[in-house]
Formats: sequence, structure tokens, C-alpha cells
Amino acid sequence: MILVTGGTGLVGSHLLFQLTKKGQNVRATYRRFSTIENVKTVFSYYTKDVALFERIEWIEAPLNDIGKLSEAFVGISKVYHCAACISFDPSDYRLLRNTNIKGTANVVNLCVKYQIQKLCYVSTIATLGFDSETISEEMHWQGNRNQNVYAISKYGAEMEVWRGTQEGVPAVIVNPGVIIGPGCWNSGSGLLFKLAQKEQPYFTNGVTGFVAVRDVTTAMIELMQSDHRNERFILVSENKSYLEIMTTIATNLKVKPPSKLASKTKLEWAWRLDWMASKFFRRRRRLTKPLALTLNTVYRYDNSKIKSALDGFEFQPISESLSATCQIFSADF
Ligand SMILES: NC(=O)c1ccc[n+]([C@@H]2O[C@H](COP(=O)([O-])OP(=O)(O)OC[C@H]3O[C@@H](n4cnc5c(N)ncnc54)[C@H](OP(=O)(O)O)[C@@H]3O)[C@@H](O)[C@H]2O)c1
Repeated sequence: MILVTGGTGLVGSHLLFQLTKKGQNVRATYRRFSTIENVKTVFSYYTKDVALFERIEWIEAPLNDIGKLSEAFVGISKVYHCAACISFDPSDYRLLRNTNIKGTANVVNLCVKYQIQKLCYVSTIATLGFDSETISEEMHWQGNRNQNVYAISKYGAEMEVWRGTQEGVPAVIVNPGVIIGPGCWNSGSGLLFKLAQKEQPYFTNGVTGFVAVRDVTTAMIELMQSDHRNERFILVSENKSYLEIMTTIATNLKVKPPSKLASKTKLEWAWRLDWMASKFFRRRRRLTKPLALTLNTVYRYDNSKIKSALDGFEFQPISESLSATCQIFSADF
């Protein structure tokens, strides 16, 4: 049987669909029962038949509840570890470390204990070094260079996975770019669609990697079936500017695209004002210094390794995944 952590999230729910479609026996972790409904919605984007959804065995298992997490591992041969906390707010640093680093350490320890055949860990491109025009898997973390709190925690989690490989658990790590796909509109890239719908007027000059959720889950499954082990793989379909992405989403949603440049100087002011507002009004940070820097920086990722590792693997063009996701977004709202 296969275990999927974070089964109720964007990646987890689409992965569960692909795995059940392949006839695999799957157990998935959740924290609150109500979030399972979200997975049903994601399945409904693919099929009206509820039989596949009903194949999932659900188990309540927060990453830091070792007793419950341990129960989830009984009878498991392969693990897809998708659960994580995603936040760029420095006030979440402790939560990020507890969930992403300690939580992953718990998963790895149980993989060792239960002699799991293979682990697939979902990391992010944010853990890669960036001292090059094009970033590849060979570029390593560069210490504290204004990395955001999320990136720091995901890097720490990768270290736990590499430790696991030394303790006998074969593993693959995937490093996806911004993941595009329907289902989780209130977090991650889902927020881009909501921002576009509100006709948010600003754009920045930054560039980063984007990838369709279907490509992420397909690559994960194929890597788990392959002989590849103890390696990491960038999952990026195309490198695009935030302006291109927001304009494509706006065009698909038939709303006004962003037209005002949020320059480096404007963002420098904005993150400082955001910091002050967070202190005065005790509200969560919306724009931090590292995020402001990222939004105006050009990062280009090389996706050749995964293409040669998985024979015939082709990424879906980002314009196609944005258009398909926008169609579902329009139907949902
Ligand atoms: N979305 C992106 O653009 C993106 C890009 C690169 C990498 N990634 C990585 O891809 C993975 C999946 O991301 P996603 O987009 O699917 O995120 P998501 O939609 O926010 O889902 C996160 C999942 O983790 C679970 N979770 C959070 N804290 C947990 C805890 N303490 N114990 C157990 N489960 C917990 C959540 O459960 P609840 O439903 O209970 O909250 C949810 O199922 C993450 O590792 C993320 O870092 C995401």
C-alpha cells in the first residue's frame, strides 16, 4: 500500500486521483475531516464517478503526532510526502520549522523503522542555489542570503531526506516551480487566480519557473516506478515573468490585466510599510523583504534532467494549464 501525506492539499489531492486511477491501494493523511471534501471536489474535475475517491483509506495523522503518524505507516511500502506548511510570514518561522523540518524528520524516521521501499519528497525550487543565469539541480543552497523562512524550512526538510538515504531509505526529491492547478483557491498559486479576478493592478519584473500540477504528479509517480534513487529533479515547464502569468490569467478570466509596474524602489517601501502595519495592527505580513526581492528577480530553471531521466516526459505548456485552471476557477466562482 502507498501512503500520501498532505492528501488534502493541491499536490496531494491530484496525486491521489492519479494513483487511484492506476488502481493503486492508497492511504492518505488528513488533519481536519472537513478538508477531505476538497479532495472530492478535485476528483470531480476529472470524473463524475465517485468509485475512485472511495478507494482512498483516510487516516488522521498530523506530522508531529508520532503515535498517529506511526499508525499510518503500518502495511505501507512506498511514501509520497507532500504535507507541508507554506507561508512567507516570518512570524510563522517556528510553525514552518516544526511542520517542514521536524515533520519531515518524523516521516523519515518512520520510513527507516518500517523499511519503506522508496520515499518521494516534494520540495521546491526555492531550496536551490541561484548564482547562475540558469539554475540546475547542481546548484546548492547558499547559506543565509535573504532566503525566505519557507525556503529555509524546506531546505532543512531536504537535509532530513538526505539523512534518510544514508540510513537506508531510497528517496527521490522533486523541486517544483510554482504549481498551477485547480482545487485549492485559498492557498499557494490558487491565490493568483483570486488576485487576477480582483483586477489587482500591479505587476513586478521578476521571472520564475511554473509547472502544471498534472506534470508534478506524473513525474512523481514515474520517478517512484523508476530505478532513480537519491537524486533530485527540478520540475519546471517554463520560466515566465509574473506579468506574463497574471496577464494570461486575466485574459482567460476576461478581466483587466495588471498595468502598473511595482518597481524595486516601490517594493522596498512597500515591504517596510507592511512591516510597520504588521506591528501596529498586529496583522499577518503580506510582503516581506525576501519576497519583495524575489518578485523583482529573474530566476531561470533548467528542466533537462527530468526529461532525460524519464524517457519521453513532456511538460504541458503553461498557457494550456493556466487556461484549463481558469475554466474551472470560473465555474467554481
Ligand atoms: N503550491 C505550490 O506552488 C508549490 C510549489 C513548490 C513546492 N510545493 C510543495 O508541494 C507540497 C504540496 O504543496 P501544496 O501546494 O499541495 O500545499 P497545500 O495545498 O497547502 O497542502 C498542504 C498539505 O499539507 C498538510 N499539512 C500542513 N501542515 C500539516 C501538518 N502539521 N501535519 C500534517 N499535514 C499538514 C495540509 O493539511 P490541511 O488540509 O489539514 O491544511 C495539506 O494537506 C509542499 O511540500 C510544498 O512545499 C508547492
